[in-house]
Amino acid sequence: MASGGNAKLNYSSMQIPASEFDLPLYQDARRYDAEHWWKTDDLNFWNTMASRHGPAVLELAAGTGRLALEVLGSGCDYTGLEASEAFLARAREKLAQYDNVRLLPGDMRDFDLSRQFDLIFIGFNSFLHLLKDEDALATLRCVRRHCHQGTRFVIDIFVPDPVFLYRPEGKRVETMTYYDPDTGERVTVEETNSYDPEPGINHIYWYYSTAGRQDFLSYKFTMRMYFPDTIDRLFHEAGFQILEKWGDYTGKKLSPDSQLQIYITKAMV
Ligand SMILES: C[S@@+](CC[C@H](N)C(=O)[O-])C[C@H]1O[C@@H](n2cnc3c(N)ncnc32)[C@H](O)[C@@H]1O
Repeated sequence: MASGGNAKLNYSSMQIPASEFDLPLYQDARRYDAEHWWKTDDLNFWNTMASRHGPAVLELAAGTGRLALEVLGSGCDYTGLEASEAFLARAREKLAQYDNVRLLPGDMRDFDLSRQFDLIFIGFNSFLHLLKDEDALATLRCVRRHCHQGTRFVIDIFVPDPVFLYRPEGKRVETMTYYDPDTGERVTVEETNSYDPEPGINHIYWYYSTAGRQDFLSYKFTMRMYFPDTIDRLFHEAGFQILEKWGDYTGKKLSPDSQLQIYITKAMV
């Protein structure tokens, strides 16, 4: 588990990891679920996508099964691929009552399930863990191999906000609060970040504190900041046609005011 407290970090001397595959951030599944209690605004969207484009659905970077429950609720067959064994174990517990589920360990940049799906998706910013063009293109190539002519491939990521990216280095901003599932204590998560525009990588630190324990936990992770023009280029290069670009979960078109980028695409197969 990462630790670092208030340590001053020299980002320029750090190597950018090629993958977020075994991030400490994604090892404690109960904590992840507890701290993301507020993330519910995408549930109807994925339920609708699955009803409309299923029934055979594949989620990449499936996490602890948060969105799987929605897909299964729409009556679809669900396959989830996920890097973190701990998250997969949690998803298996949550989804134990369903028969039409497959949860598989794997890397979204390199997988072969030897079948096609009707809907393939990457939700809740997981695409931002693809730090380089090569990672994104490798993922899109794998996705393409699992598409038939009618398959829809959908991603949901946030639009990078310069106000967020260029905050003064070291400035702490409260990013979320939750109740610890074991102790019941109220936990505050503060964030600092440092953005390197050349590779487009945002280095993020999260610091966890309770009333009595300052910075009892901290995590470092990195995310690639994808602007719409980069998505256009990568999808085109990988042989995908972007059918719709939404700026929110209700179908409003992507615009300069949008906070989200949602792409509904099909592979040219
Ligand atoms: C923000 S979480 C989203 C999880 C879930 N989709 C949700 O909506 O709650 C990002 C997930 O991406 C997974 N991940 C990151 N890189 C991955 C990779 N290369 N292949 C598969 N999963 C990956 C992490 O382990 C983590 O579960």
